[in-house]
Amino acid sequence: MITNPLLNLTTRGNSEIGYLSFFESCKDIPFLIKRIYFTYDVPNGNRRGMHAHKKLQQVLWCPYGKIEIMLDDGNNKKIYLLDSPNKGLFVEYGLWREMQWLEKGSVLCVAASEYYKEDDYIRDYDEFLEYVQKGWKEKIII
Ligand code: TYD
Repeated sequence: MITNPLLNLTTRGNSEIGYLSFFESCKDIPFLIKRIYFTYDVPNGNRRGMHAHKKLQQVLWCPYGKIEIMLDDGNNKKIYLLDSPNKGLFVEYGLWREMQWLEKGSVLCVAASEYYKEDDYIRDYDEFLEYVQKGWKEKIII
C-alpha cells in the first residue's frame, strides 16, 4: 500500500519579496542525500521513469511547471500532481514510477539517498511484479 507521500515543504517569504522553500536530510526527509539531479526540456506530454528501485529512496519536487507522478506498488496505483514549488513527493524503494510532463518548461528535481547505480534499477514491469510477489526484503541483495 502507498501511504501519503506528499510533503509540504517549509516556506518563508511573501508575494512582495518572493518565497524560499527548503527541506533538510534526516529531519524533513527520512534519509541522507547523496545525489541531486534534475530533468528539464522534456517535450510536453512526454512520459519518463517507467522503472522501480531496489534500495534507492528519493524526494521529487517541481520548482517550475506541472508534472504528474504515478506510483504503483504492484497492487495499487496512485497519481500525484507536482504543481507548486513547495510540494515534495517522497518515493520509497519498491515503487514503479511514471512521470508525465504537463507543461512546457517544467523541471523535475530529485534528491536521492544513493549514488547512481544501474544495478539498483528494475526497468522491466514483469520483473517488478516478481519482486513484489517475492517480497522486497528477501530479494534485495546489493
Ligand atoms: P533515468 O533514471 O532512466 O531517467 P528517467 O527516469 O527520467 O527516464 O536516467 C536516464 C539516463 O541517465 C540513464 O541512462 C541513466 C543515466 N543517469 C546517470 O548516469 N546518473 C544519474 O544520476 C541518473 C539519475 C541517471
